[in-house]
Amino acid sequence: MGNFVAPPYRIKMVEPIKQTTRKEREKYLKEAYNNLFLIPSEAVYIDLLTDSGTGAMSHFQWAALMQGDEAYAGSRSFYRFEKTVKSITGYQYIIPTHQGRGAEQVVLPLLTPRSGMYFISNMHFDTTRAHVELAGARAIDCVIDACFDIDTYHPFKGNMDVEKCLAYIKKYKADNIAGIIMTLTNNSAGGEPVSMKNLRAVSALAKKYHIPLIMDGARFAENAFFIKQREAGYEQKSIREIAREMFDYTDIFLMSAKKDGLVNIGGLIAIKNDTAFFQTCQVRTVAYEGFPTYGGLAGRDLEAMAVGLKEGMNEHYLRHRLDQVRYLAEKLKHAGIPIQYPSGGHAVFVDCKRICPHIPFDRFPAQSVCNALYLEAGVRGVEIGSMLLGRDPETGQNIESPFEWMRLAIPRRTYTYAHLDIVAQAVISIYEKREKIKGLIFEYEPPVLRHFTARMKYE
Ligand code: F0G
Repeated sequence: MGNFVAPPYRIKMVEPIKQTTRKEREKYLKEAYNNLFLIPSEAVYIDLLTDSGTGAMSHFQWAALMQGDEAYAGSRSFYRFEKTVKSITGYQYIIPTHQGRGAEQVVLPLLTPRSGMYFISNMHFDTTRAHVELAGARAIDCVIDACFDIDTYHPFKGNMDVEKCLAYIKKYKADNIAGIIMTLTNNSAGGEPVSMKNLRAVSALAKKYHIPLIMDGARFAENAFFIKQREAGYEQKSIREIAREMFDYTDIFLMSAKKDGLVNIGGLIAIKNDTAFFQTCQVRTVAYEGFPTYGGLAGRDLEAMAVGLKEGMNEHYLRHRLDQVRYLAEKLKHAGIPIQYPSGGHAVFVDCKRICPHIPFDRFPAQSVCNALYLEAGVRGVEIGSMLLGRDPETGQNIESPFEWMRLAIPRRTYTYAHLDIVAQAVISIYEKREKIKGLIFEYEPPVLRHFTARMKYE
C-alpha cells in the first residue's frame, strides 16, 4: 500500500454513532424487509449509502449560516452566492436550486421542445436519466469501453467515446440531439474522471453540430484534481484554473452542491451567456423551485454553499479526500476483491457479479452483498445494478444491468481511516463466506423507483 495523507483538519464537534450487535442488525434488517433504504440511520454504524449531503461543514460554513438574509427577493446571500459561482465558472447567469434534480427539472425540459429527441452522455446519472425521459427524450450513454474492464488501469475511465457519440449524432441527426451531457466525475461508472482532452474533443463536436453542451458537475472539483494528478500539462495548474478551463468548454452547468459544494442541501444552474435561455429558466424556476434568488433554499443555505464551493476546490482537502477513497480501494484490491480500478473520486465500487456468480441478475446480487455487509458490521452501502434499473416499460421484464455494483460512497470530512479499516475488514470477511450469500425476491415491488421502497425476501 502507498502513502496516504492525514486529514488537513481537526475535529471540533462530534456526533456519536452506535455499534449494534449482529442479533440487533438481523432484527433491523428483517423489519426493513431486507431493504437498507428502510433502516433507521441510527441502526447504521458507518453509513456509506451516499456522499450526497452527508459530509461535515467547516466552521467557516457554520459561521456563514448566521449571516443568511432570508428576504424573499434580492437576498444579500443570493448576491454573495452568485458572485462566487460567477468567479468559479466565468458564466454570466446563476440560479440556485434546492438540489441537483431541481436544476435538472428546470433545464432539461426547456432543451427538449418536441418529442423524439435524444440526450447523449458519457453516462446519465439516474435522476438525470429520469428527467430526460420525463421531458419526452431518450437518454443514450456513450462511455469508453475501458470503463467496463474493471481490472485494467485507465486514467480517465469516465471519458466519452467520441466516435460513438458522433455516430449517434449522424444516426439521429444533429437537430434531434437536445443536448450532450458530460457527467463529471462519471458517477455511475465508478466516480471515474473525464480528461480535459476528452472534454475538449466533445466540446468541438458539440460546437460543430450546434448542440448545447451541459456539464452535470456535482463532482467537478474532484474531476479537476484527477486532471491535475494524471494529465500532462496540468501538474502546475491550480484547481481553480483547471475547473475554469472545464467550464470554458461547456455551455450550461448543473450542479448538485451536496457533493463538491460541501453542503447538506443545495444545487445550482449556471448559464454561460444565453440570455433568452436564462430568462426561460428563471420563469420555470419560479414555478418549480422558488423565486430565482432563492431557488427553494433558505438564505443561510446560500451562504453555506458560497463558502463550501470554494473549500471544495482546496487542494489539501482534495488530496486527502481522494486518498481516503484510494485507501479503501487498495485495501480491498489487495485482498483480491473485484473493484472498479483505479478508484474514482467519491466511492469504491465493488463488483458483486464476480463476488456472487451463483446469484442471477434478477435475484439482485449487489443488494444481497449490501445486506450481508450490513449484517456483518453495520456498514451501509448501496446497490447500483439491476434492482435500480427496474423493468423495461414495454416488455415488463427486469432489465439486466451491465454492472452489479455495491457502491461504498465516502461522505466528505466525516469518517477516519480507522472507520475505513473496519469497512475493509467487513467486506473481506463477507467475501470469504460469499458462497453463503443468497439472492432476493420481491415481497412487494413498487411500480416506479422500486429500490427505495421495495420489500424483499430471501429465496
Ligand atoms: N448528478 C449526479 C452526477 C449525481 O451524482 C446526482 C446525485 C445528481 C445529479 C442529483 O443531485 O441528489 O442533489 O438531486 N447523486 C446522489 C448519489 C444522490 O448518491 O450519487 P441531487
